[in-house]
Amino acid sequence: MEVVIAPAEELARLAADAIEKLVRSKPDAVLGLATGSSPLKVYDELARRHTEDGLSFAAARAFMLDEYVGLPADHPERYRNVIEKEIASRVDFAPGAVQGPDGLADDLPTACAAYEQAIVEAGGVDLQILGIGTDGHIAFNEPGSSLASRTRIKTLTQQTREDNARFFEDDIDKVPHHCLTQGLATIMSARHLVLLATGKGKAEAVHQLTEGAVSALWPATIMQMHPHATVLVDDAAASRLQLAGYYRQTFASKPDWQGL
Ligand code: F6R
Repeated sequence: MEVVIAPAEELARLAADAIEKLVRSKPDAVLGLATGSSPLKVYDELARRHTEDGLSFAAARAFMLDEYVGLPADHPERYRNVIEKEIASRVDFAPGAVQGPDGLADDLPTACAAYEQAIVEAGGVDLQILGIGTDGHIAFNEPGSSLASRTRIKTLTQQTREDNARFFEDDIDKVPHHCLTQGLATIMSARHLVLLATGKGKAEAVHQLTEGAVSALWPATIMQMHPHATVLVDDAAASRLQLAGYYRQTFASKPDWQGL
């Protein structure tokens, strides 16, 4: 696992560099998209590169990590709509190229299985963007999630609902209790994981993710088992890292050509 500590703008550029390198060398790449605040600067950077440098996603596809169950189709916080607004509509994905789990399906388990199948049929995810919850979740794999889980229904923790109330007029009662989420094994099947975390509120989760014991109590720790995982954090999110000095030294002496 590689840990890079840098200001948020630089982290976004590094993530965008990895995505650009992938999409330019493999135009039909499959991207994994996260919602929430953490990837927003990356999406801004990709949109800028699309407009100014001709970076094209016309042949690419993308799969979202998760979706709330039951939010109306036109709800602004439905993740399908958030992804459309934050990235899909700002670049040139082909119609239907961005998919997400169907939180409005009548038969949710069947929708989850179909989603897993769609990812497999697309050839798997090449690069998965991730954020991390303050309770250590990735996608919505809350503490206690099976490390072998696949896309399924999960119940959000009180902590996650409190954290996400900011998107729902600061009213926790408006935050859904249930979601569909890629499982930890689904995420682990992606070929490159790029997780972004900023702010002091993420410091403990980032410490556990990189330096804690692999455990369902901190689901993101499963990333320690991934052959190509990159963790991009700012100073505040890195503030509890025991090996921060080593991570900084390693990145500073990394050859430019290597990328993430
Ligand atoms: C969102 C997702 C979540 C978020 C996490 C952090 O699709 O999968 O795991 O990445 O809750 O959220 P932010 O970035 O808003 O702090």
